[in-house]
Amino acid sequence: MKLKSDIILKVSDLAKSVKLENHILDLLSEINLAVSAGETLAIVGASGSGKTTLLSLLAGLDLPSSGSIELKGHALHTMDEEQRSAVRAQHVGFIFQQFLLVNSLTALENVMLPAELANMENAEERAKQLLEQVDLGERINHFPSQMSGGEQQRVAIARAFITQPDILFADEPTGNLDSNTGKHITKLLFDLNKENGTTLILVTHDEKLAARCGRRIVVDSGRLVTETSNTPIETSEAPKAAASASDTLRTVNE
Ligand SMILES: Nc1ncnc2c1ncn2[C@@H]1O[C@H](COP(=O)(O)OP(=O)(O)OP(=O)(O)O)[C@@H](O)[C@H]1O
Ligand SMILES: [Mg+2]
Repeated sequence: MKLKSDIILKVSDLAKSVKLENHILDLLSEINLAVSAGETLAIVGASGSGKTTLLSLLAGLDLPSSGSIELKGHALHTMDEEQRSAVRAQHVGFIFQQFLLVNSLTALENVMLPAELANMENAEERAKQLLEQVDLGERINHFPSQMSGGEQQRVAIARAFITQPDILFADEPTGNLDSNTGKHITKLLFDLNKENGTTLILVTHDEKLAARCGRRIVVDSGRLVTETSNTPIETSEAPKAAASASDTLRTVNE
């Protein structure tokens, strides 16, 4: 069982810059952050402040220019893409701002993909179940180009859940959804946190979603400027019982 005080993610003196034609652009500087297992953290800030850049680094999708990122004890900043990809397959779920579904694969195949990469059993069965949970049971054989933005987002959410990640990163998970679907997805995320102890790190402009998280940090021009503890509507205690993701997801419709 995870203890709340276990640090799942630790970031020290993180910086990211990119070299443009005739100058260097600093995207992130002096980022320090520690996240406990089972925490729910909202990252907020103006458009262009660096939230997506930060999330990509925290999840091991990109490498920093300097500083360190340790995820579940793995020093991501020292690893090559192949090594980081193995850590991601084992521990990380990611819902991208642009969904990043594979266009040549159906909804079902997109959701199954991470499970197959992690050699999980019953990938197809679980993928079907997850797609039903996000109300896409009728659309499992549709390709991304045949779905609306909100539908693609729900496929991306099902895909992020399939490996039962220890830590789930989501970039504007409710950004393209109508308010009812947004509420449904929010419940799904927080149920996963509550029942499986999944750590949630969410980038959001949605004040209601940010307010549900235990803590919020503000990014401004590539720096962390403020950090506040919320009194979350739902707490992020360690798991009460070893519920499976399918149990968690089943509770959504109850
Ligand atoms: N590879 C890159 N090369 C140059 N500039 C970049 C690169 N990646 C990001 N940027 C710039 O860095 C800044 C931060 O981008 P980022 O996507 O992290 O912002 P954001 O906070 O997620 O914004 P939004 O809320 O609009 O999604 C932006 O000004 C963006 O143009
Ligand atoms: Mg962004």
